[in-house]
Amino acid sequence: MNLIDQLNALVPAFEESLAKAHTLPQVEELQTAYLGRKGQLAGLMSRLPELTPQERPLFGKSANAVKERLQASMNARLATLNAAQEEAELARFDATLPGRAPWQGTLHPTTLVMEEICSVLTGLGFDVISGPEVETDFHCFEALNLPKDHPARDMQDTLYVTDSIVMRTHTSPMQVRAMLERKKPPLAVIAPGKVYRRDSDITHTPMFHQIEGLLVDKNVSLTHLRGILTAFVRQLFGKDMQVRFRPSFFPFTEPSIEVDISCILCGGKGHVGSTPCRVCKTTGWLEVLGCGMVDPAVFRAVGFDEECTGFAFGLGVERITMLKYGITDLRIFFENDLRFLSQFA
Ligand code: PHE
Repeated sequence: MNLIDQLNALVPAFEESLAKAHTLPQVEELQTAYLGRKGQLAGLMSRLPELTPQERPLFGKSANAVKERLQASMNARLATLNAAQEEAELARFDATLPGRAPWQGTLHPTTLVMEEICSVLTGLGFDVISGPEVETDFHCFEALNLPKDHPARDMQDTLYVTDSIVMRTHTSPMQVRAMLERKKPPLAVIAPGKVYRRDSDITHTPMFHQIEGLLVDKNVSLTHLRGILTAFVRQLFGKDMQVRFRPSFFPFTEPSIEVDISCILCGGKGHVGSTPCRVCKTTGWLEVLGCGMVDPAVFRAVGFDEECTGFAFGLGVERITMLKYGITDLRIFFENDLRFLSQFA
């Protein structure tokens, strides 16, 4: 066989092998064997000097033609293999299968109950306001009739930032801020938010949530307080809930009152069957919030005139959430345990 015949023989040999190559590496292997630097085509071309000068141009032309033909065959084969692979992938893909739902977070139970309480109270006509968690001693205590040496300051263990700046221990400073800002009555506001105390045990955490309420106008009486808070508690805990108003003490309200609901575990009986109720400790009642008529000293501190009357209330959101859902350990609210949190989805 002369060189040109050998050259032309590469084409059917290459194409036959290509037809048997079913993977990309197999095609690459053939490419190296035929078209590579030390491949068959290069081998034949290196024998150019064996030819006479007259034969050489024809040989060179043929060599180029063969090279192009080999490359074209190889590309065609690659295209076929790629198409087949794509088809196989598509065959595995079932567009009718349901998608995988992305994992979705839920609102924290405290947030849910906070939103529920706010929606009940806005329904009763209160506006929602908010303010700083780092407070001045004036807003948090002084203006609320809690002077520096007052023993009632001991009711709340305070986290001090400086001598006159504190992490607010309750949302009551928002009463002061609301009145200073509005300058005169009437006003009806609620202020949800975080509060901080130097406390940590099974029923206390250093941070928790409160919602403050304040209504000021002329001729507001204890009857209004009772009516509003009874309606509020019944919307939250059910319309048949028993509500009790009991005298208490807060420096910024006079008279001061605590509101109880009948125990969610024993229904107010004080015992479950023959065992004493551990939730209400046999009293039959559970405290839900503190309230009272705004003390005239507070009106004086914010420059409201003596004829104003009003009531204020404050409630713990975690506490209400615990009562609503029968949760017994406060700390679970802050542990980020999905087994707990996902139950509120
Ligand atoms: N600020 C009081 C507390 O944190 C609750 C309260 C608010 C009581 C408003 C009366 C009026 O304990």
